[in-house]
Amino acid sequence: MVANGQPHLEQCILVTGGAGYIGSHTALQLLLDGYTVVIVDNFDNSCEEALQRVVELAGKNGKNLIFYQVDLCNKDAVENVFASHHFDAVVHFAGLKAVGESVAKPLLYYLNNVNGTLNLLEIMSSYGCKKLVFSSSATVYGQPKSVPCTEDFPLQAMNPYGRTKLFVEDIMRDLHKADPEWRTILLRYFNPVGAHPSGRIGEDPRGIPNNLMPYVQQVAVGRRSELSVFGSDYNTRDGTGVRDYIHVQDLATGHSAALFKLFTTPNIGCTVYNLGTGKGTSVLEMVAAFEKAAQMKIPLRIMDRRPGDCSEVYAATEKAEKELGWKAQNGIEEMCRDQWNWASKNPFGYQPSHADGKESKPVCNGGHDLKISNGAAAT
Ligand code: NAD
Ligand code: UFG
Repeated sequence: MVANGQPHLEQCILVTGGAGYIGSHTALQLLLDGYTVVIVDNFDNSCEEALQRVVELAGKNGKNLIFYQVDLCNKDAVENVFASHHFDAVVHFAGLKAVGESVAKPLLYYLNNVNGTLNLLEIMSSYGCKKLVFSSSATVYGQPKSVPCTEDFPLQAMNPYGRTKLFVEDIMRDLHKADPEWRTILLRYFNPVGAHPSGRIGEDPRGIPNNLMPYVQQVAVGRRSELSVFGSDYNTRDGTGVRDYIHVQDLATGHSAALFKLFTTPNIGCTVYNLGTGKGTSVLEMVAAFEKAAQMKIPLRIMDRRPGDCSEVYAATEKAEKELGWKAQNGIEEMCRDQWNWASKNPFGYQPSHADGKESKPVCNGGHDLKISNGAAAT
């Protein structure tokens, strides 16, 4: 349940990373809620086509989306965006998220995820915009000693990516101590999957997918031959890893509820909420649900465990339910239905389909009124 429904017509939200997977679904939700939404994204892991489709899905509210192609590491460009708009709050998704890449290129991850965030926070501070919703992750629980994970569990980073999340969480806690005017909500997502029910927006990873469902989806459309199942000897129902999969649409409404909470709770301070369903699903259960939705078999190969993986992680959801008035509405059936709907309509994601398998540049074919700026000057 989303705890809003109030008119927000005058409020303007900056969404960093809004062209990406979770950001595009959330930007759409915020437009439908009645906010004006300004997105900054450098298209490092996304493309303009996603934004065109958000505008299309938002109908008459699509005109309230403004986009700047800006890198958060370019402080002057970010400052230009703030000079051009008054923001009531910021939802900060922009970041790199591939665990393996973060191990190979830690400096890239610290520069992009931590420095980018520091630039944003400094500029927010100087413009007096002190309300932030931040994309954290269940990764900060490391290898949890028990499940479900409550928000007060000890925190531990297992890799540089996870450390960037932990650093930013700590920075926000320090910032609030130094300046109590800041209102921050740290949202720890569990495993986001699925797509908008229209099949127009969804996840479009570059290269070989790291995560389970994008990989399954690419096997289903014939881009990969089989799924490697990492480990079948965990102490779980069927021996495969258990995770808390959450529909991306539920994450989108979770952000909407978090923003409402920020606006209505002067003493929110710096508060953490898990966004999950509270239910664990194994790899084999998830594959079976997808097979049912797509009416096809997914070829599997059982492999060794993936280093760093834990056996079972799922969220305690009571805090978000009680304080945000939000609860995930979709189960794995809906997640797999919408994942397959997106995959079957967009087998190559936002790329036009191509027989030769070569990457091609995403195109824009929406023709909608999307205001695009490079952030060098005011729109
Ligand atoms: P995504 O890669 O689809 O979206 C991130 C967006 O940020 C992309 O559009 C990318 O181009 C943009 N970006 C990256 N660095 C930028 C920079 N310096 N300046 C401007 N734009 C930049 O990822 P997502 O799955 O939508 O994740 C969104 C956020 O949620 C990330 O911070 C991620 O770490 C976090 N998160 C994701 C998951 C997940 O499994 N998807 C789980 C937990 C947390
Ligand atoms: N898995 C496979 N085969 C694959 C990919 C994954 O069997 O090809 C298994 C994994 O071993 C695990 C489960 O599927 O048991 C889920 O794996 P994901 O990679 O999809 O998700 P993780 O829980 O490992 O990690 C993801 C993100 C992290 C984030 C975490 C919680 O990659 O960055 O969710 O949000 F922190």
